[in-house]
Amino acid sequence: MFCEDALGMSLASSLLVEGEEAEQLFRNADKSRKENVGDTTCVHGIIEFSNHCAKNCSYCGISSSNCTLPRYRMSPAEIVDAADYAVNKLGYKMIVLQSGEDPHYTTEMLEGIVKKIKEKCKLLVFLSIGDRDYETYSRLRKAGAGGVLYRFETSNGLLFKKLRPGTSLQTRLTHLKWMRELEYMIATGSMVGLPGQTFEDLMGDIKLLGRLEAKMATFGPFIPHPATPLAGNAGGTAEMALKVIAATRMIYPKMRIPVTTALETLGGENRKKALKAGANALMVNLTPMKHRENYQIYPNKFGSKDDVVAASDSAIALVRSLGRRVCRGWGPWSAAPELAPICR
Ligand code: 5AD
Ligand code: SF4
Repeated sequence: MFCEDALGMSLASSLLVEGEEAEQLFRNADKSRKENVGDTTCVHGIIEFSNHCAKNCSYCGISSSNCTLPRYRMSPAEIVDAADYAVNKLGYKMIVLQSGEDPHYTTEMLEGIVKKIKEKCKLLVFLSIGDRDYETYSRLRKAGAGGVLYRFETSNGLLFKKLRPGTSLQTRLTHLKWMRELEYMIATGSMVGLPGQTFEDLMGDIKLLGRLEAKMATFGPFIPHPATPLAGNAGGTAEMALKVIAATRMIYPKMRIPVTTALETLGGENRKKALKAGANALMVNLTPMKHRENYQIYPNKFGSKDDVVAASDSAIALVRSLGRRVCRGWGPWSAAPELAPICR
């Protein structure tokens, strides 16, 4: 346990530092990463299987109100094949299945997809499918899904309500609570640099991770999309996202912290910077090429043009260039011991 005041103080000072002090924060976070989770960096994959979404979050390019976006859905067989290839040909051991909130995929369909993938592949499946009821998440857990990637998006309830019409932070947090009770590993976090977001909000975001017992912290900069109500607003900066990552590492030494695609989108070199500022995982886009450019939650998404093999190779090469080992599993502190990491 840590004292709330001390936590608040150290967080505030981390997020406010600039220049050489920020560089020092990044070095400290890198040291903490090395001491607490070692020199193994995990490379996970993500399959974005549908860009249909019933919600209209005002920051998101695939929201229901974007009428100009071509929509796609992968069939269950396509999703299973993509996972099969990633695991059995490329060596992935943790894959996120992500979509907009798409009711086309019934609970039975999702159950079938997860079961089939688990039959064919030895891997940890993370679901990133948004709001579904308890019953659905319970059945998907039984079908073999082990984690959820479900961001709280912002810990500021008023901002949340404004950005996600018809929903509330409280409900989001209640869902996270029962997801934990269902024994999902929780990956959660927020966007950095949302219009109206304050330093205090960002501090609140980092503090919230602890209360949610998150195992993975995912923070990315907000990037304005031209076809959304937030077009024209300033986006989050890479610098601030890096500070949030570093502060998170300092406060939660054992946390898995991936470099998010949004941060990579603000400049390819941010991958390396984040890995040297506390991050210890990469997420490679495994969505089939023909759909890639339409999963446009924000414009010019990093990796939209890289083929799956090339993208995997470049992630592995980067990890090795930093003198670290590649692992594709959940790591040495795994709650899923059968998933011994692959180190190539
Ligand atoms: N900029 C950055 N991140 C975004 N997301 C959605 N829209 C944007 C945007 N414009 C993030 C949300 C969501 C995840 C799938 O993508 O945090 O949870
Ligand atoms: Fe849909 Fe998620 Fe985008 Fe909101 S953030 S519109 S729920 S995909």
